[in-house]
Amino acid sequence: MEKILVLDFGGQYNQLIARRVRDHRVYAEILPYTTPLDEIRKRKYKGIIFTGGPNSVFDMSSPHYDKEILNIGVPILGICYGCQLISWMAGGEVKTAPVSEYGKIEVRAKSSLFFNNIPEKSIVWMSHTDYISKAPDGFEVVGVTDDCPCAAMQNTKKNIYAVQFHPEVTHSEYGNQLLYNFLYEVCKCKGEWVMDSFIDDTVKKLREQIGDKNVILGLSGGVDSSVAAGLLSRAVGKQLTCVFVDQGLMRKDEGDFVEKTFTTLFDMNFVRVNCQKHFMDKLKGVSEPEQKRKIIGEEFFNVFWNEIRKQSDKGYFAQGTIYPDCIESGKGDADVIKTHHNRVKTPEDVQFLGIIEPLADLFKDEVRRVGERLGIPKELVWRQPFPGPGLGVRIIGEVNEEKVKILQEADAVLRDEMAKNGYESNLAQFFCVLTGVKTVGVMGDHRTYENLIAIRAVTTDDFMTADWARIPYDILAKVSNRITNEVEGVNRIVYDITSKPPGTVEWE
Ligand code: XMP
Repeated sequence: MEKILVLDFGGQYNQLIARRVRDHRVYAEILPYTTPLDEIRKRKYKGIIFTGGPNSVFDMSSPHYDKEILNIGVPILGICYGCQLISWMAGGEVKTAPVSEYGKIEVRAKSSLFFNNIPEKSIVWMSHTDYISKAPDGFEVVGVTDDCPCAAMQNTKKNIYAVQFHPEVTHSEYGNQLLYNFLYEVCKCKGEWVMDSFIDDTVKKLREQIGDKNVILGLSGGVDSSVAAGLLSRAVGKQLTCVFVDQGLMRKDEGDFVEKTFTTLFDMNFVRVNCQKHFMDKLKGVSEPEQKRKIIGEEFFNVFWNEIRKQSDKGYFAQGTIYPDCIESGKGDADVIKTHHNRVKTPEDVQFLGIIEPLADLFKDEVRRVGERLGIPKELVWRQPFPGPGLGVRIIGEVNEEKVKILQEADAVLRDEMAKNGYESNLAQFFCVLTGVKTVGVMGDHRTYENLIAIRAVTTDDFMTADWARIPYDILAKVSNRITNEVEGVNRIVYDITSKPPGTVEWE
């Protein structure tokens, strides 16, 4: 299969570059800049993209690469830092720019294969403090801005191209076209990366690997494990056993929905472990958020593996790990605010023939496309992110059954109204929080002293930062009215207008 390498120098848009390439139906993989040149040669890429990065190439402690890569005959595209690095490696001049460019800037491009179907003047996204003051010998400048004398350059003999701007972000008007030109005009790709062939190939590979053995998969009802279950079911049917732990902290009716989906639409063994009471007992008297997370995580681990121990013929263990969970970053020091564990740890006493990760090459949007093609309901495929500890971290303070019920009911009303108004798929995430605060209200002629529910709704691209969603007042009014009328134990609603940072998306 034709492949593009995204060589990671630590920039923030690196995964986006790979996703954009894949949107053009060409498989892209990300490797850190520490990958040896021989390894790159061996993998026979159709093209290589050097990513951006936060450093200066003339600082010797910055990520550099063996200059020989420019001579191995594989087309190269450098972006931002990658562009400066090519210049530096090929003998050009890189300096601190007298004027840093940040944001939308007009670029003027020379008509060329690289800028095929792109107007002479277009808007691009810039973010740099260094610039190429003199292009290396053998390179022709094909794009300039008012402050950047080399915004794009090419060496057509060696098939090396470079842009100071970021074609991968949507603010670059013709960025997608530029990537297309590199992939199809320069690298001569054919566009073989399509989801239908991914499904057929993966099913074939899974059958070969699994043979007549069994497979166990932990199903959470989230997108990744659901799609992994769908693929494995198609490959080996009843040889697959999915273990679904219902800890009682899911949204209203969610456990039943997951069970119904996988027992009626797919061929597999489905084991639902109902342990709602066990979790409530363990959470009794606990209100500290990290402590709650820890207990829920540990109990999940115990319940899940105890169930697996009961399975007599274990065979392989499958997981819904996806590509972003596997990428080793070029920088490797991205800040982690809360740890989200995506790879399940296996206890020492449970032995498997091996681990199977059928989605390990896919980005989330690709996982969703596969899920749709496998016939998994859209409620699961387009499901919003949901924290592992579930409603446990949306009930502030101690968790008990009554509180879970109140929150589930309120959340169901919110979801219903959002769906009716077309917000279901337009917002990254929305949910209710049971705040743990009681307030005074009045109902009929009676004083009430009931729960305060907060509504949280955010827009975001990557969940690292987020903004609160500007939901129309009329919708908020309807939700507030319905929750206070329909959900017993709630007499007041507030809307959370905190962005991230300084807040996080979840309250705990
Ligand atoms: P925060 O609260 O960190 O949330 O801004 C960012 C995104 O991550 C989700 N989240 C979790 N997901 N396990 C998960 O799988 C967790 O423990 C967890 N905590 C938060 C959150 O819902 C949001 O989408």
